Amino acid sequence: MPVESLAYQSGFNNQFSSEVLPGALPSGRNSPQQAPYGLYAEQLSGTAFTVPRSEARRTWLYRIKPSANHPAFQRLERQIRGRDTGPVTPNRLRWDPQPIPAEATDFLDGLLTVAATADAEQASGISVHLYCANASMQRVFFNADGEWLIVPQQGRLRLATELGLLDIEPQEIAVIPRGMKFRVELLDSSARGYICENHGAALRLPDLGPIGSNGLANPRDFLVPLAHYEERDEPVQLVQKFLGELWACELDHSPLDVVAWHGNHVPYKYDLRLFNTLGTVSYDHPDPSIFTVLTSPSDTQGMANVDFVIFPPRWMVAESTFRPPWFHRNLMNEFMGLIHGAYDAKAEGFAPGGASLHNCMSAHGPDNASTVQAIAAELKPQKIDHTMAFMFETGRVLRPSRYALECPQLQRDYDACWSGMAKTFHRN
Ligand SMILES: [Fe+2]
Repeated sequence: MPVESLAYQSGFNNQFSSEVLPGALPSGRNSPQQAPYGLYAEQLSGTAFTVPRSEARRTWLYRIKPSANHPAFQRLERQIRGRDTGPVTPNRLRWDPQPIPAEATDFLDGLLTVAATADAEQASGISVHLYCANASMQRVFFNADGEWLIVPQQGRLRLATELGLLDIEPQEIAVIPRGMKFRVELLDSSARGYICENHGAALRLPDLGPIGSNGLANPRDFLVPLAHYEERDEPVQLVQKFLGELWACELDHSPLDVVAWHGNHVPYKYDLRLFNTLGTVSYDHPDPSIFTVLTSPSDTQGMANVDFVIFPPRWMVAESTFRPPWFHRNLMNEFMGLIHGAYDAKAEGFAPGGASLHNCMSAHGPDNASTVQAIAAELKPQKIDHTMAFMFETGRVLRPSRYALECPQLQRDYDACWSGMAKTFHRN
């Protein structure tokens, strides 16, 4: 199927607007007595009405049928795998990539929860899901439990949202705000990737401090769809995730029927290859926070509910420095994935599509092989290329699901990558 290229508007957290039909967007008021073209006005709020203006996220939708026009939701028999939390473990965990299913599986059926910091009803914390699919969704979905940061690792996706179409491919990401209806269509034969479900404050760009007014992810590289609507009077299943459970109802029309909209509660995409990567030009390996793409703050200043951090291609020029990530034990909890290539701190065992979890105060760092090589390396300027790893870093412990702890992809021998480290200490 040929795929036409889509147009977008750019910026981050702007008051965006778009209309398919000329004049469909009312001027002067949000909810006129009679909206143009006989459309219904509806507000979708992602924050409480009374939060500070800088925090407020809401969008006005002008649609063919109001969202309230639906029958009761019924709990679906097929729920997301990994809903049950597994036994507590302080151990370091790593997984091989999940296989692409053999039978027809859409994005929702292909979801698997790996870990979560708290129940979905909490207004903070994150859940981490994987998806593996080989079929486009015919149904439409929305998530009442949080926003979704989607990180494709294999296969392109078309996200048909209420506000328009977003196409993403591996090394791009998309964020779907809480409550936004969307359908995931596959543009290739299969798709696999990661999802950070953010139950807390909406993701935003980090402050730049002394870095100044440019750098890291630049606002103009974030892309928001143009309005696009479906006028389809035929049965469509609408699924929602509510407190971690899937519920569905049958509509007699497509709920992707928004002809015009304006606001800042919007889906968006970003190409990770555009990240302006900063690093040391003297010595030492900076903290990975320097690679933060998006952050969700918590109530504790400077401690993220979740940071989305990437490890992109970059030059390494530090002198007299152990260049890989140092050995460390952190307060924060780290879920890592690999989109493309190899990660510089692991010689093997961390494959694209795989994942690792290092929770609070678990000791980790480069594996033995990478350490030996880094200590002996001649320190010339070196480009780390053909790589794109990422981290969801959260202030709360990520508890793996029972499924994640029992699935065959869990590497039972992960600790061995740090075994056999030679004692190199000498008194003189
Ligand atoms: Fe780490």
